[in-house]
Formats: sequence, structure tokens, C-alpha cells
Amino acid sequence: MTSEEREPHRETLAQLEAQADHRDAEQTLLAAGWTRCGAGDWAIALRSPDGTAAARISPFDPASSYSVALYRQAAHTRQVPQLFEHRRLAGGGDLQIMEWLRPVPEPEAVAFHRAIAAREPGVADLVDVVRRIHARARRELPWFGPELDDNPDNVMRATDGRLVAIDLFGADGPNLYATVADDPDLVVARIPEADRRFMTEIPLTATGPWDPEVRDAMRAGLAAADARKTRPTVS
Ligand SMILES: Nc1ncnc2c1ncn2[C@@H]1O[C@H](COP(=O)(O)OP(=O)(O)O)[C@@H](O)[C@H]1O
Ligand SMILES: [Mg+2]
Repeated sequence: MTSEEREPHRETLAQLEAQADHRDAEQTLLAAGWTRCGAGDWAIALRSPDGTAAARISPFDPASSYSVALYRQAAHTRQVPQLFEHRRLAGGGDLQIMEWLRPVPEPEAVAFHRAIAAREPGVADLVDVVRRIHARARRELPWFGPELDDNPDNVMRATDGRLVAIDLFGADGPNLYATVADDPDLVVARIPEADRRFMTEIPLTATGPWDPEVRDAMRAGLAAADARKTRPTVS
């Protein structure tokens, strides 16, 4: 097997400009023959033409760098997906290319999450890495979710048959978006604009969609808060 066959995504990623955002990334991959294979609240997934890789594209996901750290630091456990590439996208989006995974029956997913919560011997190494990175994320980022995301969709199976946990970390979405609505100045003060430009574009496939009016109001609230921050009122 040549390295190009093993890593078909490399050629596609080479077409992505340095300033690509999440829309550019999706369009580039679709044009190269990747196909939609999943969607959650924060991200969509596309499958590579040869079926071996998946791209996870998010317009805004403060947690994704921590997931990437987990996939790298817990790679030896084989209980996280094999990560091929990671790129931050313009405006705060995120692109991960990893091995393609398929869903598992819900009871299997629930049992895996339960084993993680109890730090059972079979997942102890994974849990130690998870806890270390989660504690760091909670120190470093505002609105980082206090709990792991134990959604059954976040346990999947690799083509070699092993079970893996994906997407265990997440922002505290309800709290964060409630603050966008109630106190956009606080969000603007605590999250740099370049990291949240597309925060009202997350797919929200599981819990949404947003009422368009609510979304427009959040967008307008953030824009007004950004303007106040850039041009402080002179008293
Ligand atoms: N490696 C992968 N292979 C196949 N599908 C995936 C992969 N990663 C994610 N997906 C699909 O995309 C969905 C969203 O990805 P996920 O990382 O869980 O983001 P979210 O934060 O939106 O839940 C998953 O529920 C799954 O259906
Ligand atoms: Mg998920």
C-alpha cells in the first residue's frame, strides 16, 4: 500500500487555503467526492471517497482542541479514533480527519460510557488521560462543560472492530448560548472574535434547530457587543 492510498485526504487538504473556514472546508471535500455521513450539534461528518477516513467539520467548537489532545495522548489505548490530521479553520472552526467509524447499538454505547464513568479496569488508562485533559480545559476555557458528553452517538466502532469514544468533551452549550442571549458583552469579553465568528452556525442536529429569529437576535446582540467593545462609549 502506498502512503497516498493510506492517506487519501492529503491531496484534498492540500487544496484548502490557509484562510479556509468551515464552509470552504466542506465545499472542498464535497467537490473531491467526500459524502455526508453524520451530524451532531456542533459538527458534521463526511466520509472519504475510499471509505477509510472521516472528516469532522465544526464552525465553532471550543472543545475540539481538547478532543484532539485526547486522541493523541490516549492513542496507545486504541479506545479513541486514530487521528490523521487536525486544522483550525478561520473564524474558530475546526477540521479533524480521522479513521472512519460506524455507529454501535445503543446498549453497547451506554455500557462503554458506564465503564468510563466507573473507571473500570479495561478503560482506566483512557479515563486517566480524559480526566487530566478535562481538568485542564476547565481551567483554561470559559463555559467548558463540567461533565463528559455521554451521548450514545459518541461511542462508535472502527473497521478493525474495536470500540472507541469520540467527542467526550464539549462546551456547556445551554449556558453559553443563554449568555449570548442575556449578556452578549460577557461573551465578547471572554471569547476572542476570531474564535467565535460562526458560533450561531453550529448544526444543532440533535437538539435544534434554532428558531431563525432567536438566531438572528443572538447574531445581532454579538455584533452590537463587538461594536461597543471596539468603540467604547466616552462618558
Ligand atoms: N470518525 C467518524 N466516522 C464516522 N462518523 C463520524 C465520525 N466522527 C463523527 N461522526 C459522525 O458525526 C457526528 C457528529 O460528530 P461529533 O464529533 O460527535 O460532534 P458533535 O459535537 O456534533 O456531537 C457523530 O455523531 C457521528 O454520526
Ligand atoms: Mg457527539
